Amino acid sequence: MTKKPYDLSGSAELFERLSRTLVDGVGSSFHRYAAEPFPVAIASGSGSHLIDVDGNDFIDYVLGFGPLVLGHAPEAVARVVSEQARRGSIFSAPTQSLLELSEELCEIIPCAEMVSFQNTGTESVMHAFRVARAYTGKEKIVKFEGHYHGWSDEQKVSIDAFYPAEMGARSRPRKIMTTPGQPEGAADNVIVLPWNDLDALGRCLERQGNEIAAVVMEPFMCDSGPILPAEGYLEGVRRLTRAHDVLLIFDEVITGFRCALGGAQEAFGVTPDLATFAKAIAGGYPLSAICGRRDVMSCGVHPSGTFNANPVSVAASLATIEELRRPGTYERFDALATRLCEGLDEIGARHSVPTYTAHVGSICVLELGLTADEPLRDLRDLLARCRVDLYDRIWAYARERGVRLTPRRGRIYLSTAHTEQDIDRTLEVMDAAFDAMAGEA
Ligand SMILES: Cc1ncc(COP(=O)(O)O)c(C=O)c1O
Repeated sequence: MTKKPYDLSGSAELFERLSRTLVDGVGSSFHRYAAEPFPVAIASGSGSHLIDVDGNDFIDYVLGFGPLVLGHAPEAVARVVSEQARRGSIFSAPTQSLLELSEELCEIIPCAEMVSFQNTGTESVMHAFRVARAYTGKEKIVKFEGHYHGWSDEQKVSIDAFYPAEMGARSRPRKIMTTPGQPEGAADNVIVLPWNDLDALGRCLERQGNEIAAVVMEPFMCDSGPILPAEGYLEGVRRLTRAHDVLLIFDEVITGFRCALGGAQEAFGVTPDLATFAKAIAGGYPLSAICGRRDVMSCGVHPSGTFNANPVSVAASLATIEELRRPGTYERFDALATRLCEGLDEIGARHSVPTYTAHVGSICVLELGLTADEPLRDLRDLLARCRVDLYDRIWAYARERGVRLTPRRGRIYLSTAHTEQDIDRTLEVMDAAFDAMAGEA
């Protein structure tokens, strides 16, 4: 029997059955997007492409929400993972490969004098908070609106909002708790500020610097919608935190290995005291790390975790880094990202849809409703000025024609497996999508 094009009946059926036994019918809340009746279920991935359970083929720019910096099922990683799986998957003991990876990270990441390993970004950020508190003897953590650092009670605060008014006054942001079950006091030691605003941070550190252990941020805000740091902002944060004896933590769970091999700290030239890495660090396998200053990292807080530094993930990480180290990798990301962004800008201009694009390494930004003349500053701006409704319609149109973008927020990931042909096909689809939507912009 030949299937209709873009038949999703297999996905619908699977979701219906899964929902009977699996909470929400998905493995993670991020696998479900409220705007669609059911998620597209995947059968396999290879390079830049995914095939769903109905046989539809997609050029994938979601890439597992970031880890797949080499694309789906990269041969170099698959080989070492299967070799290691046959030699043993967990020893609860040091290995030669762990030495290699620790030394490798200390060589390539600017802030890394020592490292420790966990499995997920959430765990690494949790551990970074504990290390910062132990080292400084202070308890409060400053975080920024719209910056996501993981799903624990203390981390999942003010990561998003439905509308700007929900966030309270800019000078006194409300702490927004995100999920039922978060204890009321979970954010007692968290101070929330608007991002990209040095005056706000300066005032806060002046007032409470003696209680604040660390300032944590994504150096390039990505998770809730990509926004670049304003000119001089990261340097200013670095100066202010030093002046007040407060540690600076960069959450590089997304930006690590993507903005540059040494992460956003290399790309933007600002070195934090501590940084957390996950996602792309192991090319699709669960591994995360904290890196940082020797005196801070060796302050006596020992990370626990049964699966920490398991040899399969360590092997995947070493293979991923070896691939990323190949000459020309980041130049190629830059060329592909430029081709995509310039193409999208041209399409937006031709269809009179205000379009903002940007890229750093293998992370591209696409926002609709504004242009490069008026870049976004923070989550408040994003909520007030971006046409999420329009983006959503383009997202749905593109997926129906074989291009899989991140829903809602215009974050586009590239991998080493993406080709010029993928970009050109994507631009063709986006041209048609903008054409269909232009009347509604
Ligand atoms: C910036 C950032 N930090 C931390 C996390 C949490 O990482 P994980 O999902 O691996 O726990 C994420 C996840 O998306 C993230 O984007």
